[in-house]
Amino acid sequence: MQVVDTVHAMQRMSDGLRANGKTVGLVPTMGFLHEGHLSLVAQSCEDNDTTVVSIFINPTQFGPSEDYEQYPRDFERDCSLLQSHAVDVVFNPGVDEMYPSGYATYVEATGVLTEGLCGASRPGHFRGVTTVVTKLLNIVKPHRVYFGRKDAQQLAVIRRMAADLNLDVEIIPMPIVRESDGLAMSSRNRYLSSEERKAALVLHRSLQYAEAQIAAGERDATKLRSEIEARIEAEPLARVDYVEIVHQQTLETLRSLHGPVMIALAVFIGRTRLIDNLQLTV
Ligand code: PAF
Repeated sequence: MQVVDTVHAMQRMSDGLRANGKTVGLVPTMGFLHEGHLSLVAQSCEDNDTTVVSIFINPTQFGPSEDYEQYPRDFERDCSLLQSHAVDVVFNPGVDEMYPSGYATYVEATGVLTEGLCGASRPGHFRGVTTVVTKLLNIVKPHRVYFGRKDAQQLAVIRRMAADLNLDVEIIPMPIVRESDGLAMSSRNRYLSSEERKAALVLHRSLQYAEAQIAAGERDATKLRSEIEARIEAEPLARVDYVEIVHQQTLETLRSLHGPVMIALAVFIGRTRLIDNLQLTV
């Protein structure tokens, strides 16, 4: 496994691979890898001749009062996990390599896709994501790029961006990976105390409740949304950031449950903000 830390070296390596007819898969990450990331890696290794995993904690997607400084890091552990998963290349640039002095260009998707859900509580977040993902695609030049469905809004925004900017890459969405008790895997789970870890199950349980209600015939999205919110607020350590019921692709708010539906949650458990979602066709 090779570790590459400059844009130039990564671009020349990808040029060489492409010139030799090799397919390249990219798994973009911010490191501190868990089984969710590794499921993306496994799929990329299956689909492509070469898998590149980028590890870059992207400062432009964090707000000023967010956890950029505290974001968990363990590069050695990440590398040994990736080595054992037969990854070919780790792209690990520094902040100055990605955003050198004088940097002035951003990529931004506008409208409903970025204004609601996480976009409302994290202004500028998706601008940072679309900017760094565009840069990573231009640097690694993959044939396929892999994203988890836990970050469902991120996936919808990136799909929109790829279509709007005619990006020549296949976007592969991958299922949410959960702990055995249902908590969606996230690098931020490590912030939780043991008491908070138990309280965090309220996210998955409220989505399971919603799924059962829909299976039993509930079609009133506004009513279901209020019920989910009440269930989460009943957990003393939880505070709802948002509960939204939206169309899976456009992210427009739904009043009735029909078609491709997504129930998306962001919940503070203590000081840790967690997201989860349920996607189903009704
Ligand atoms: O999902 C993430 O880990 C990040 O938002 C991404 C896609 C690696 C961009 O920094």
